[in-house]
Amino acid sequence: MDKLKLAVLISGRGSNLQALIDACGDPDFPAMIVHVVSNVADAYGLVRAADANIETTTLNHKDYKDRESFDAALTVIVENSGAELICLAGFMRILSAGFTERWHRRVINIHPSLLPDFKGLDTHARALAAGHVEHGCTVHHVEAGLDDGPVILQARVPVVAGDTPETLAARVLLAEHTLYPQVIKILANNPELWL
Ligand code: GRF
Repeated sequence: MDKLKLAVLISGRGSNLQALIDACGDPDFPAMIVHVVSNVADAYGLVRAADANIETTTLNHKDYKDRESFDAALTVIVENSGAELICLAGFMRILSAGFTERWHRRVINIHPSLLPDFKGLDTHARALAAGHVEHGCTVHHVEAGLDDGPVILQARVPVVAGDTPETLAARVLLAEHTLYPQVIKILANNPELWL
């Protein structure tokens, strides 16, 4: 069976990208990363991609006059890469409705909360402030709007006594690194979920 071709979009550290790279290193894993795009030139994830011999492009949003023209350039890169699915992994840009419609159901994102709780930033501090006993992460289809779109799968972690935003974030991040490859495997084996 042909492997599902992924483009991964990043803006920074790229630990979720690394989890996907590692998963794709297993010959039995049903997906491969064909391209990594960063909107930040010094994102560490670009180093991770280069180390894994994956083609990369830096697309600086500041070089584009508006969101639509940046997203149009992004579409050209993804089309040329042959990617079938676009995985956002710490990509800190809101995508235009034109982009999410062009790639309808084919853009997925990982978010560090149990959506619909805590869209946006600082999810761990907000979960603690709200007194939640459970927190986690979500992989979802991306639709226009912040952290919007149908949930594909979530992973839950406990909030424990003495947690700080940092300790909770570390626990959630470990869960993210398992969840994202797990979802990719499900989508690769069930194309009706994204085609
Ligand atoms: C992760 O927590 C992810 O859920 C969120 O941004 C963070 C990216 O981390 N969207 P990394 O760049 O994958 O290490």
